[in-house]
Amino acid sequence: MQRISMLGSGFIGRFYADSLQGQRSRDKIVSIYSRREESAQKFAADYQVPHWTTDMEASIAHPDVDVVCISLPNNLHEAAVLLCCKHKKGVICTKPLGRNAEEAKRMLEAVEKAGIFNGYLEDLVYTPKFLKALDSVKNGALGRILWAKSRETHPGPHSEWFWDKEQAGGGCILDLGCHCVEIARSFIGKDIKPVEVMCWADTQVKPIDAEDHAIGLVKYENGAIGQFEVSWTFRGGLDLRDEVMGTEGTIWINNFLRTGLDMFTTGKGADYVAEKAESNTGWLFPVGDELNDLGYNHMFTDMFAAMEQNRAPQESFYDGYVVNAILDAAYRSAASKQWEPVKLEIWRGREHVGKDFSQQEYDAQYYLVKEEMTHYGTKKLILKDKESGAIIEKIID
Ligand SMILES: NC(=O)c1ccc[n+]([C@@H]2O[C@H](COP(=O)([O-])OP(=O)(O)OC[C@H]3O[C@@H](n4cnc5c(N)ncnc54)[C@H](O)[C@@H]3O)[C@@H](O)[C@H]2O)c1
Repeated sequence: MQRISMLGSGFIGRFYADSLQGQRSRDKIVSIYSRREESAQKFAADYQVPHWTTDMEASIAHPDVDVVCISLPNNLHEAAVLLCCKHKKGVICTKPLGRNAEEAKRMLEAVEKAGIFNGYLEDLVYTPKFLKALDSVKNGALGRILWAKSRETHPGPHSEWFWDKEQAGGGCILDLGCHCVEIARSFIGKDIKPVEVMCWADTQVKPIDAEDHAIGLVKYENGAIGQFEVSWTFRGGLDLRDEVMGTEGTIWINNFLRTGLDMFTTGKGADYVAEKAESNTGWLFPVGDELNDLGYNHMFTDMFAAMEQNRAPQESFYDGYVVNAILDAAYRSAASKQWEPVKLEIWRGREHVGKDFSQQEYDAQYYLVKEEMTHYGTKKLILKDKESGAIIEKIID
């Protein structure tokens, strides 16, 4: 059993609480910090939390607390982490870890120096569909991974601080791109170094300083490419899709808008449908078990199992730092319109991994380029002569 201090009683604090105390969970939130007394009290009443406070340090230092869950706006993550270090409490922090890599690096170094457990709450690499897909990738079902793409787009966040560049640290690249980058990075291999980023970003619709739409490419040292597509201006709900392409296969994941549950209603009695749904009438696409389908349950299970087994979780502050470093390069690229290097002062993966490019043998003279069965009953082989390099066609009837 883990006894948790929850910092923040807003959107994600409540999703986390629903997951942490859902089903027959043994884990309990024992202290809630919120900046407003009435919010802290309401959260405490809703989730039967014995201690509530408007003093962040008092919640972290509370003697009953084993681990602190940070669910605060991005600009408050670092201060909260440093207090956890001071009181030697394990810490799990929502995404993005920092507003930039510099902040994330300071947090990573602080928790490691303090010797406390640290986990990065990137729920979208814990969804049941993602975990199954990752398993298939790791088992080699897709061969060598060439391209991993992730898209998160919705009509914009739910609280004022997200829209303020100083508090949030950026726009949709940071807010949504952090998910996409970690998804693609996990499929490509977290030990493979991300080297360069090319990114387009613009403020197309909203009256804000930050970007509300962006597309980026992340190049990895082994030749694989990651792609993120993010928007705060997308209409139609929350679009969460991933694609992975390998030499031997493909995976498409749709996490939210088409999950196989379609419903029509005239609107009578309709209320909440799913996160960021834009309508509650007509044809709707609810999500069966949002907490589970968004990965929260598997994420907390891994976090607390890791704490109890004295191991690192699947996602640690180090991963949060790498993600921030990739996104910093994306921001630099959007400004320079050039490929920008990913600056990783801390790198714990493999070095100098070359492109694994092996040609498929056909016979002593040729490599096989392609084999195709045509609609007119002829089988064609496209071959490359090993010596001359000439490409030829061979018909097999
Ligand atoms: N899927 C996810 O992993 C996911 C989803 C949404 C948000 N988040 C992250 O969770 C964090 C919080 O986002 P949210 O959506 O819950 O926001 P929110 O606005 O709904 O809630 C934020 C909480 O922090 C409190 N707060 C705001 N400003 C404060 C201040 N100056 N001092 C002290 N407390 C303050 C609010 O009162 C509220 O309790 C962010 O880092 C965000 O990126 C993660």
